[in-house]
Amino acid sequence: MLEDTSFAIHPGKEKQSGAVNYQDIGKLLDYRVEDNTFWFRCENGEVGIQFYTDSIIRIVMNQEGQPELVSSKAVVASPKIINVEVEESKEMLVIQTASVQLTITKGPFRLSIFDLQGSVIVAEGEHGMAYRENGEVIAFKQMHSNDHFYGFGEKSGHLDKRGEKLEMWNTDVYAPHNPETNALYESIPYFMTLRDGKAHGIFFDNTFRSCFDMKTSEEYYSFSAEGGQLDYYVMAGPSPKKVLEQYTYLTGKMPLPPKWSLGYHQSRYSYETEGEVRELARNFIEKDIPIDVIHLDIHYMNGYRVFTFDKERFPNPEKLITDLREMGIRVVPIVDPGVKKDAEYPIYQEGVREDNFCTYIEGDLYFGEVWPGISAFPDFTEERVRKWWGDKHEFYTSLGIEGIWNDMNEPAVFNETKTMDLEVMHRNDGKPTTHRELHNVYGLLMGKATYEGMKSNLQGKRPFLLTRAGYAGVQRYGSVWTGDNRSFWEHLQMSLPMVMNLGVSGVAFAGPDVGGFAHDTNAELLTRWTQVGAFTPFFRNHSAIGFRYQEPWQFGEKYEEIMKKYIQMRYQWMPQLYSLFYQASRNGLPVMRPLLMEYPDDAKTYNLNDQFMVGDNVILAPILVPSITDRAVYLPMGEWVEYSTGESYDGEKVHLIHAELDELPIFIRKGSAIMQGEWNSNQDKMTKTLSMKVYATTSDESYRFTFYDDDGETFAYEHGEFLRLDLEIITSADKVNVNVLNQTGSYLPTYNEINVEVIGLNEHQQVTINGESVNVIRIRK
Ligand code: GLC
Repeated sequence: MLEDTSFAIHPGKEKQSGAVNYQDIGKLLDYRVEDNTFWFRCENGEVGIQFYTDSIIRIVMNQEGQPELVSSKAVVASPKIINVEVEESKEMLVIQTASVQLTITKGPFRLSIFDLQGSVIVAEGEHGMAYRENGEVIAFKQMHSNDHFYGFGEKSGHLDKRGEKLEMWNTDVYAPHNPETNALYESIPYFMTLRDGKAHGIFFDNTFRSCFDMKTSEEYYSFSAEGGQLDYYVMAGPSPKKVLEQYTYLTGKMPLPPKWSLGYHQSRYSYETEGEVRELARNFIEKDIPIDVIHLDIHYMNGYRVFTFDKERFPNPEKLITDLREMGIRVVPIVDPGVKKDAEYPIYQEGVREDNFCTYIEGDLYFGEVWPGISAFPDFTEERVRKWWGDKHEFYTSLGIEGIWNDMNEPAVFNETKTMDLEVMHRNDGKPTTHRELHNVYGLLMGKATYEGMKSNLQGKRPFLLTRAGYAGVQRYGSVWTGDNRSFWEHLQMSLPMVMNLGVSGVAFAGPDVGGFAHDTNAELLTRWTQVGAFTPFFRNHSAIGFRYQEPWQFGEKYEEIMKKYIQMRYQWMPQLYSLFYQASRNGLPVMRPLLMEYPDDAKTYNLNDQFMVGDNVILAPILVPSITDRAVYLPMGEWVEYSTGESYDGEKVHLIHAELDELPIFIRKGSAIMQGEWNSNQDKMTKTLSMKVYATTSDESYRFTFYDDDGETFAYEHGEFLRLDLEIITSADKVNVNVLNQTGSYLPTYNEINVEVIGLNEHQQVTINGESVNVIRIRK
C-alpha cells in the first residue's frame, strides 16, 4: 500500500545501482559449417547462424555449449539451403548471401550485417552477445542517431519507442493502461527499426520474461531474457513492408477471417439473460443499426463453468442462436481457460482423469482462483490436451456458434503475481519445462487449440477467434483486442498507436473496446470513438459491469444518428476492407497502418500518433479530444481529396481541418481508387451494387491494387472459389484509364459489374475502362 504514496521515493530507500556485469561471448576459437548452419565456438559459448532466406538470418547463442536449434512456438518457416560465399582473413570472416553481407570479427566475436550497398543493418561494437551467471542472456546492438523503433506488440504510449524500455510478460492489467504500464496481455518480442528510410526487423524468439532497452544509452540498445538461449532473427527489409512480409513469412499469416467478423460487434460484461440479448438484437434491427455479432460474457455460464449455459438465464441457447441468426446476428461466447474445481462437473472430471491440467513437478494439480472460484488450468503446451480442448468446442458449434472469445489466457489468476506459480510444469510436447519459460505462450497455445478445434468442428466454415493474450504468431489463430481500457479520451488517443504497432507486429486484426471498457463513457466520447472504430480492423463496443450501458442509442437520438451513420459506413467500406484483409492474409501487411509504412522517407510521419492509414491510399484523421472541432492534419506527398466534402488538399503540408461531431476527416490519395458497397439491412448484408470511386488527378500517376471477394464464410476460396481483380489506374492531363489487368477465380458474386465513378475529373480528361468509353467494369463469367 505504502508504495502508492510518496513513501515510494523515501530517501532511505535509495539503492546503490551497481553496474551489472555481463560475460561477453569472447574471442572466436574456431568455426565449422554443417548443412548451411555456421557454428562458431567462442571462448565463453557457442553461436549458430542459419539462413531462412537470403534476407532472414537466425542467430543463436548458448553460453553452455552448442546451441539447440529447437522448434519454436512462433516460427512456422524452416531454414533454407541458400548459396553463400565465405571469405576469411586473419581478423574476420565475411559471409555473403544474395541480399546481405555478414561480417564477423574474431577477437572478440562481433557480428554485423550490411546490405549490398554497404549500409549497415545491425552492428555490434564494444558490446556484443553476452550472459550472466543467473542465466540471463543479452544482445547489444549499436543505435544510430536516426533510428526509430516500432512494433513490440501491444504497448501503451507513442508509436516510436525510441527512449523506452519494453517488457514482455503477458499480464492482466485491469488498471491502469498508461505510459508506465509496460507489460500488457500480449508479448510479441519483435520490433522494426526505421533508419533513413530503410527498415529492418529483429524477432527475439525467447519465451521467458524479456526486455528491450531502447532507453539506457543513445549509442546502443539491447534485448535480454531471464533464461533460455539468445535466439533471434534479423530481417533485412529494406522497406517497412518488406520487413512485415519477412516477419510473417517466419511467424505465419492471418487466415482470411469470416466476413461477418469484420462487421460491428456489440458486447457488455454482461448481457445477462436470454431476454436481454433478444431485446438488444431487436433494438439493432428496429433502429436499422448494422450489427453482426453479440458477445456473451461470463454470465451466460452456469457458475462460470466453461462449456455450459446457465439454465435459468439462458433456457434455450439453441433457439436463441437460431433466431438471432435469422436476424443476421451471430453469437460469440467467452471461453476462459480456468476450469472450476468441482467433482460433479464433467469437464473438470475429464480433465483430472485424463491428466490434462497443469501440475507441479511432484504431481499435484495447480489451482488458482478466477471467476468460477478455485480452478484448474488445461496444459495447452501439449498436443493431446489442445486436441481435447478443441474437440470440446463441439458444445458450441452444435448450437450454431462459429466464433469464440478467449479471455484471461495470460493466464490471469487472482493473486499477487497475477498468474500461475512459475514452478508449475508444462508438458510442452515431450520437452517438459516450467511456467517461467512458457508463460508468454500459454495464450497463444490456447488460441491454437481453440482455432483448430473450431475449424474441425465447423466442417468447412471459417471460425472466428478473439483472444486477449498471445505471443508472436498469434495472428495465425485469432484477432486481438487490447484488453481492459477505460472510457477516457486518453485511451481513445492511445488506441491508435497501440493498434498500429500491433499491425507492425504482424497482428492485422486488432482493435480496442470502443467507448472504453471501465468507467462511464459519455455521448461525445462514444461518438468519436465509434467513428474511429468504423475503420479499425476489429470493431467492438464493450463495457464493464457496474458502468453505464453504451449501446449506440444510450445517449439520445442526436448521437444515435451519428453512430448509426458510421456503423453503416463500415459496411459501405466492406469491399475495400475485405480486400485489405485478403492482402493481410497473403503478405502480412496490416489493414490499419502508420503513415511511415507508406512514406518511410518522410520524417514527419515517424511519430504521427493521431492519424492512420487504411491500406496504402486512405488517411484517417479523427478528432480525439473533447469539445474540439478543428485539428491539424498532416498529408504526405501527393494530392488528397477529403471523402465527404470532395475538397482537394496538397500533400507535404499541415492543414487545419474542421470536423463537427458528425464528421470524420478521411483523405483519399488522388490517382487511386476505393471500392464501396452499400448497406441493405441486418438480414441482408450481401453487396449487390459495387462501385469503384476513382480520384482523378491530372498528374502522371499509376496505381495498382487488388479487389477481392468470395463467399465470406467457407474455405471454398482455397479451391479457387473467389473473385480477384488486379486493377490499374493511370492518370495524366488528358486521361483517366482504368484497366483490369487480371481476373482470377471462379466465384460468382451477386453483382455482375462494378460501377466506376470518377471524382474530380477535369474537362480535358477522357475516361476509359479497358480502353473503352464506358463506366462499368463487367465481371467475366
Ligand atoms: C476481463 C476481460 C473483459 C471481460 C471481463 C469479464 O476483464 O478483459 O473484457 O468483460 O474479464 O469476463
